[in-house]
Amino acid sequence: MALVPSLSAYQAAAADSPREKTLFNNGWTFALSTAQDIAADYGHGTEYFTYFTKARANGDSKAPDQMSFDDSSWQKVNLPHDWVVDLPYAGEASHSHGYKCVGYKYPENSLGWYRKVFDIPESDRGKRICVEFEGIFRDAEVFCNGIYMGHERSGYAPQVYDITEYLEYGGKNLITVRVDASMEEGWFYEGAGIYRNVWLHKTDPVSVAPFGVAVKEYRFSDDYSRCVLVSGVTLSALSPTNDVMIAQTLLDAEGKSVATVFCKPEDSPELEVANPILWSDSAPYLYTLRTCVYQGGYTIDCLRDEVDVKVGLRDLRFDPDRGFIINGRRVEMKGCDLHQDHAGVGSAIPDALWRYRVEQLKKYGFNTIRSSHNPATPAMLQACDELGMYVIDENRCVGINEEHFTLMEKMIRRDVNHPSVVLWSIGNEEWQLEWSAVGEAIARRMTAFVHSIDPSRQVTYGNCSGRDMVKGVDVFGYNYVVQNPILEYHKSYPDHCALGTEETSGCGTRGKYVTDNEKGWMLSHNRAGVAPDEINGSDEGCQTTPDGKILNVIERGWKFYAANTWLAGPCYWTGFDYRGEPNPMVWPATGSQFGILDYCGFPKDEAFYLKSCWTDEPMVYLCPSWNRTGSEGKYIDVWAYSNCDEVQLLLNGVPLGKKAMPKYGHLSWNVKYKAGKLEARGFIKGRKVASYVLQTTGAAKSLKVEASKTVLLPDGQDVTVLDLTVLDEKGREVPDADVPLSVSVPDNFQLLGWGNGDPGFKLVERPLPTDKGAFAVKTFSGKVQIIIRSVEGADGEGKILVAGLDCAPISLSY
Ligand code: GAL
Repeated sequence: MALVPSLSAYQAAAADSPREKTLFNNGWTFALSTAQDIAADYGHGTEYFTYFTKARANGDSKAPDQMSFDDSSWQKVNLPHDWVVDLPYAGEASHSHGYKCVGYKYPENSLGWYRKVFDIPESDRGKRICVEFEGIFRDAEVFCNGIYMGHERSGYAPQVYDITEYLEYGGKNLITVRVDASMEEGWFYEGAGIYRNVWLHKTDPVSVAPFGVAVKEYRFSDDYSRCVLVSGVTLSALSPTNDVMIAQTLLDAEGKSVATVFCKPEDSPELEVANPILWSDSAPYLYTLRTCVYQGGYTIDCLRDEVDVKVGLRDLRFDPDRGFIINGRRVEMKGCDLHQDHAGVGSAIPDALWRYRVEQLKKYGFNTIRSSHNPATPAMLQACDELGMYVIDENRCVGINEEHFTLMEKMIRRDVNHPSVVLWSIGNEEWQLEWSAVGEAIARRMTAFVHSIDPSRQVTYGNCSGRDMVKGVDVFGYNYVVQNPILEYHKSYPDHCALGTEETSGCGTRGKYVTDNEKGWMLSHNRAGVAPDEINGSDEGCQTTPDGKILNVIERGWKFYAANTWLAGPCYWTGFDYRGEPNPMVWPATGSQFGILDYCGFPKDEAFYLKSCWTDEPMVYLCPSWNRTGSEGKYIDVWAYSNCDEVQLLLNGVPLGKKAMPKYGHLSWNVKYKAGKLEARGFIKGRKVASYVLQTTGAAKSLKVEASKTVLLPDGQDVTVLDLTVLDEKGREVPDADVPLSVSVPDNFQLLGWGNGDPGFKLVERPLPTDKGAFAVKTFSGKVQIIIRSVEGADGEGKILVAGLDCAPISLSY
């Protein structure tokens, strides 16, 4: 064994890491097949010796997994890709999946094939080469050069295949994936296809195994002046056990080494950091944990592998009396639930769009996301690490047998290092198990299993209303205060921690103050005066007061959690709208309306309620909009949300009264409508600190453009989000404008998708590659979102042209 170098002499390697990790998303081809008729599925599995009978079929296979297969007519796609986005809607399709024509009723739309041909140079011979799929929805079979690599039923599990021995070095190679989305895994929109990133890893045979670096413990001194970071390193199966050693270094955000340790592979490296900079939602400081594997000596020519993972130093625990404690401090969880679904792209959310989504939530004070009801996508976790957002990472399939444990283990091993992940969830609302000792026993076994892999985090479960299963986890997760025995259980189980895994948002359609079943629009439940039977006869989610009015449910939830500080806080169902579950509506509604933000991320009124509760910058907000044609002389119930002490309302300069702002509530004025200017002024200690104006506007005239960025990376992956707002001739936002527009995108950029937040949406969301020329879009309640993706290898500039209202060309460049 070579000598351990002195710390001052050791330099953590960096520039020439022997490991190559390449994004493998570009240059795939895709085609639908059919699940109806196996023979029509390109003859796949019909050979005399099938791919399952013999490792390599006898040469009589004509299926897409064969290099000779002609895919010239297939669609060219860059991943991530969700083919359901391009499918039509129908009233008899699945309610939960947004009435999109996918699933067992539509076999012709539910099976897809992907192919990617790629070169492997001769110089790669001797390396280990793996392909990693972050998630394929679902039931995926993977082939390399016609040889079966494996199968994963779940749409949410990462899959890693070692393809080293199957490759042609110095030649062309083929990865083929067959995806069968006939069956649903969730009761929410899930898309179909290779909807998450794919990576190609090339390493030395002596290397860290996939997900082989795992932080196990953060050991802090009482005053947080020291932290010992304990991890484990698992080497690949081919690594020899002798002669190999590890050096692990912690680098600060500037890349400066702050601690190094030398050890054997079987040891748990411990890094001691003096004066650590802690990670939290308000200060998300990240270090890099660099693990270097050496063989024969600690010199650069003996370096066999180098793996960097981002880590955040933080001390976490859920406490039965104080809720969520991070770095010794109680932090209220201000959370939401989130599905992986966005306008224009479905479940195939590019990394840059994930960042956009997390940024939107942060604007309104959210600090927690529950990844409902499946393991989070790595890009979301990265955005949460970087921007400061706590995550409850949730398992999909509940059970205690090999398949269940394997799926949970995959989630934990992949996500364990993310500082944002603060809690694991074993599942959600298992109605048939929740009320039984069987359910409790299953939850206990699953919890114990999670602890055996990650002792550093606690475990929760999202409970519908049962009394038993939830007792099997560390942190009781309550879905809705109205359904759960929260206070009773606090008395019966005082040593148990708890949080709100779901809470009613009471939201409806952004900007439409009306319930219209045909259009799929719904007045927010929070606005009193809606009888439940106006909403398709269902009273789901509606709690009424004695006089028959609907309770303001968003306020009920937050007031409850704010008053009960032994609870960690609520997660509102949901942060963003998503396709499917338009409950309590049905077709022709297609999308949910639970979101605090709509499915583009445009805020609903309730976003400002939460902002008033959760943020300190003085603000005031008024609703509904003041474009109320035909309402002259009628009384309008005007609401204000504010974090000020008092709010004054003025209509066309005439004061209508100043009122004390109730904590975590809203103010209301019955105002006789007169077109013009309605102004709210917020006062703190008698001083005016904020104001908000609603105005009756003129007709739609022009568009204001906000771009998340204007310079893109030419990698075929980067996106910019263009949020367009309709203005009148005086530059005032027109909140009720539903205006048809068209968009033209030059060849060096791509229109990836668009949306407008309409929960009755049934339009075409993106052009097919064959569609040329201007593409039709439409604003909804004054807004539309256009998502533009870069083109691999493109350069120069490009102008996005929007016609229909005045809009200066939108300049983008590389
Ligand atoms: C909850 C469930 C969520 C969603 C929601 C809709 O019970 O956990 O996934 O379905 O209801 O109201």
